[in-house]
Amino acid sequence: MSAALGRSQANSHRSPQGEGTPIGPRTAAAEAARAPDLPLTFARRLIDWQRQSGRSGLPWQGTRDPYRVWLSEVMLQQTQVSTVLGYYPRFLAQFPDVFALAEAPADDVMAMWSGLGYYSRARNLHRCAQVVVAQHGGVFPDSALGLEALPGIGASTAAAIAAFCHGERISILDGNVRRVLTRLLAFDADMAQLPAQRELWQRAQALLPETPSNGDMTAYTQGLMDLGATVCLRSRPLCGRCPVQDLCVAHAKGVPQNYPVKTRSLKRRHESWWLLWLRGQDVGAPGRVWLERRPARGIWADLYCLPVFDSEASLLAALPPGLRGAARALEPVSHSLTHRELRLHPWLLETSQPVEFATGLSGQWVEEAALVQYGLPAPVRLLLSNDPP
Ligand code: ADE
Repeated sequence: MSAALGRSQANSHRSPQGEGTPIGPRTAAAEAARAPDLPLTFARRLIDWQRQSGRSGLPWQGTRDPYRVWLSEVMLQQTQVSTVLGYYPRFLAQFPDVFALAEAPADDVMAMWSGLGYYSRARNLHRCAQVVVAQHGGVFPDSALGLEALPGIGASTAAAIAAFCHGERISILDGNVRRVLTRLLAFDADMAQLPAQRELWQRAQALLPETPSNGDMTAYTQGLMDLGATVCLRSRPLCGRCPVQDLCVAHAKGVPQNYPVKTRSLKRRHESWWLLWLRGQDVGAPGRVWLERRPARGIWADLYCLPVFDSEASLLAALPPGLRGAARALEPVSHSLTHRELRLHPWLLETSQPVEFATGLSGQWVEEAALVQYGLPAPVRLLLSNDPP
């Protein structure tokens, strides 16, 4: 969802047979007859269910501080709650407010993010904090529209922050919520298309509670998230536990798994990388590892990483001939990115010689004990966190 989805039309009463609508007049009529007060019933049920059975006690719940809510929402994009629970308190301890974050060196922010993945989120988070401080005096805008103008805040995240912090009557529509609502409504337009996304967002707006209190909007928004994450699951939805099962058109048809409809599926390109794990083992000195800074664009942009090669031959060619025999291949590991399926082939070379001069590698030695201070890609951190086999 984005501003392009027509927030200005959010409260319009356009006919449901608009562009991209999946519902013909007869289906719509049948649906209306089935559930004449669908919005009212849906919202009430969802709010009650969230308060009784939804997730509670998470560290970002129970606050209306936009900084804390914003941070949690950005961390929770594409990352599971269980993972975020390990990062959120540490991040807040180091950067307790938007001023602390805005002032921090980018490397410190990346180091705190290291392992969460999708590093553009951390770069945008830092930029956003700087914009909030420089242009808004350190106060986040109090509407979804204002929030969406900030770096890295999409429409659904903006809606979540505005609903949680200010009780704004606006619907989120992330991937989980799309699944819930396309099933509820048996909305079968192709979600790869912008008009369908727009239409669903309008339908989502129409389902909101009519005159919600701040607390209602919090429970409703959290309820949508909780339903998508814990009940209305992608492949095996737990319909027996769903508070709106009897309102759900896809359930009535017996085909919840058919929603959402999306024609364009993501194809990941396969790629192999060879990583040189150059380990300095001077007698009596702390262990150290050679790290390079990744380029500012592309995979793992700006992170620190083992030197990357596109083949075993080019990795070995970079080593002084006398040391090639001492390098050994370790077990390859796979790592999925949004658009790439990486196969990583680490090669270990343990040496007490100053090989960096012979190799022409750019980069630097880093003491193993200091690696926590560096932003490293998750699979590289995992590799380096164990002694070599
Ligand atoms: N996913 C996105 N936002 C969330 C939240 N506030 N709580 C739990 N999961 C979420």
